[in-house]
Amino acid sequence: GANILSVSQFERADIDRIFEVADTMGPYARREKVTRVLEGAILGNMFLEPSTRTRLSFGAAFNLLGGTVRETVGITASAMAKGESLYDTARVLSGYSDVICMRHPQSGSVAEFAAASRVPVVNGGDGANEHPTQALLDLYTIRKELAGNGRALDDFRIAMIGDLKHGRTVHSLCKLLCLFKKVHLTFVSPPELAMPQALVEQLRAVGHTVEVTDHLENSIAQVDIVYSTRIQEERFSSQEEANLYRGRFRLNREIFTRHAQPNTVIMHPLPRDSRAEANELDTDLNEHPSLAIFRQTDNGLLVRMALFALLLGVEDQVDDYSYPVRW
Ligand code: CP
Repeated sequence: GANILSVSQFERADIDRIFEVADTMGPYARREKVTRVLEGAILGNMFLEPSTRTRLSFGAAFNLLGGTVRETVGITASAMAKGESLYDTARVLSGYSDVICMRHPQSGSVAEFAAASRVPVVNGGDGANEHPTQALLDLYTIRKELAGNGRALDDFRIAMIGDLKHGRTVHSLCKLLCLFKKVHLTFVSPPELAMPQALVEQLRAVGHTVEVTDHLENSIAQVDIVYSTRIQEERFSSQEEANLYRGRFRLNREIFTRHAQPNTVIMHPLPRDSRAEANELDTDLNEHPSLAIFRQTDNGLLVRMALFALLLGVEDQVDDYSYPVRW
């Protein structure tokens, strides 16, 4: 269908096409050219859990294609606070939207919403389940960064670090990586926050090698990509329980320089938890050329523009509706 709910819906040809379209979006994202290809179209942005970059980049991507964004932020600001169902909300919002992006704290909720919607729905994160557009922008970033180092998506090594149990971005990324060959994955987490076993089995079943460890320094020594994640404190039953793990794996310039190879790429889906007790990715790496976190967010805009163009069937007309910037 036209929804984007899970990365499991994609085949390799879909990924190639999304990335091909994303590659054409640069001039519009950089404001070198203006396109109005989605003029008159409305994006309904329904974000019922905190978000900075996903919500704003969905909105900016739609605006950059010429469309308009209408949005609600937070459950308390929506009529769901008065007991309105996902079904009714979907029927109402899809009456005047051309596409809807949604984030919701419960796994499966976005799929339930999509079943009642009359227009395509994009999952902006449903609980600990999936974050498909993040995985696409992560994969797009990995592809670009690897190319700079002479490697490719079909033969690389990645260490994923942190809360691999609750982190929906790593769940989605692992599923996507099953479409590629010869990926070596090292999962670094406390045993209580391990990657779900079903995903480990899925990766092994396609021939990938998977190592599981709780040793940060060893894990980053032999990889192309280090993918750090935040302890997802909002998924724990108490803050005290989350605090047992916050600060457990901290990557900083000293550790990176001492243990990783110089061209290893550092990624993080963001937000990073910059409070002193967590600080999983230190700001002393901010100017390090290996730090790709803001290249990642820039790529997110390109990938989300591509997804909107493809969902609304205008991917080959973007340039036809374009003109040079006037400022
Ligand atoms: N990566 C990500 O989903 O960030 P936000 O929570 O800010 O949207």
